[in-house]
Amino acid sequence: RAEADPLRPRFHFVSPAGWLNDPNGVSQWNGVYHLFYQYNPEGAFHHRIQWGHATSTDLVTWTDQPIALEPSAGPDADGCWSGVLVNDGGTPTLVYSGRLDERELPCVATGSADLMTWTKVSENPVIAAPPAGVDITAYRDHCVWREGTVWRQLVGSGIRGRGGTAFLYESADLRTWTYIGPLFIGDASQGDPADTDWTGTMWECVDLFRAGEGALGAASLGSVQPDEDPDVLVFSAWDDGDTRHPLYWTGRYSGDTFEPAALHRLDYGGRFFYAPQSFEDESGRRIMFGWMQEGRSDAAMVEAGWSGVMSLPRVTTLADDGTLDFAPVPEVEKLRRNHVSVPGKRLVGGGTPVDTGVSGNQLDLELDVQLAPASVLQLGVLGSGDGAEETVIELSCSLEGENGILRLDRTRSSLDPGVDVEDKSGAVPMPDGRVRLRVLVDRSAVEIFANGKPLTARVYPTLGGERVTLTVEEGAVTLASFDAWTMADSWGGPRPLFP
Ligand code: FRU
Repeated sequence: RAEADPLRPRFHFVSPAGWLNDPNGVSQWNGVYHLFYQYNPEGAFHHRIQWGHATSTDLVTWTDQPIALEPSAGPDADGCWSGVLVNDGGTPTLVYSGRLDERELPCVATGSADLMTWTKVSENPVIAAPPAGVDITAYRDHCVWREGTVWRQLVGSGIRGRGGTAFLYESADLRTWTYIGPLFIGDASQGDPADTDWTGTMWECVDLFRAGEGALGAASLGSVQPDEDPDVLVFSAWDDGDTRHPLYWTGRYSGDTFEPAALHRLDYGGRFFYAPQSFEDESGRRIMFGWMQEGRSDAAMVEAGWSGVMSLPRVTTLADDGTLDFAPVPEVEKLRRNHVSVPGKRLVGGGTPVDTGVSGNQLDLELDVQLAPASVLQLGVLGSGDGAEETVIELSCSLEGENGILRLDRTRSSLDPGVDVEDKSGAVPMPDGRVRLRVLVDRSAVEIFANGKPLTARVYPTLGGERVTLTVEEGAVTLASFDAWTMADSWGGPRPLFP
């Protein structure tokens, strides 16, 4: 069934069966990259979640490993929810949310030296209850780091009537925790749930790190900062309505609090790059994964037999304006095949699509373009020959010619009336109208980067279209370069679905 499934990605990580959501315990340990993930092998629905596990030496090809954590009698009997991996003096240690009776509490498991066998500690749950006297909306997910001689931990939460938050704790041994207080409390009365930057009533999957050069070695989180590099607090804004999108605050973490400076959207695809988690690899890169959830119905997922795609790993860097930039790890380029270079040219408006000669449903596209002020360029991918289906990536440059908008128009992505086609867009700096555009297409998975700003989404073409077109809707655009590659399967073929 899934082997022939034309929508199942072939160079993104997907679970061997059933359901996948958040990345967990992302790390590099003795040279090997580890990706754990929220997993239900029984079917493509969220239930009795376990920790799936895969390893890689290059972040491109993955090897499935035995299930790392499974629910068992006790505080995680109903699920092993999201968490992280830390190095406790040489012992690999997981801190995760055990679920029981519709609530979650922090649990710990220690691993064998090869990270393949995990033992839950007898002290679980290691925190017996959320902070007393606070009316919380939820309480789960973990960010844990070493600070001097102690461990510190954040647990994502929300305070009813106020907003999302992260509770800060301290421990000497990862087993006994002292509550310090809320690191920072969001204000849910600012804006409303329809806003793409609404901070929500609960923060899922908080991730705190220092950005920029200072991130390496001595200048890690909580140390005296040698320069102005900001700390970054990533969270997934959640509400029991529809709100689900990743955001981050830049600011300063010092003492027991986080002083926010600015709030930013992390990915313009919103819920399609959800619950991201990052780590610093052995070469000092900050690498982030996110869950590319589905935009189709629950029934369609169950029918397909699989659900959820892991994003490609992204290198996260600090831009000159103090925001984060993202790019797929360069290792991904190993999968490039059949290079096509579209000759540079000047294109003028008129709205007529220009065939690029590029085609495929597994593609890596790299464009360097310059938009005249007030110009609009569209890149069509996954287009059927007759034009009935096409996914449109649009860049528009402001009148002043320094800023612009990246937009994804999925209204014609699929003839299937049951899939999500909501418009996605966000601001992109465009000095002199210049944009470096990178687009990775992997069947139903699309990752777009415009001058480092990401927009991630899912699409469900039904006609098998592979056409790539360029259209100048308005104004004039100089195509300085356009390189295209087809992308090889990272599984050496379609990823078989079991059972
Ligand atoms: C985020 C999330 C986490 C939770 C996990 C459960 O998508 O809801 O808050 O730990 O997924 O699978």
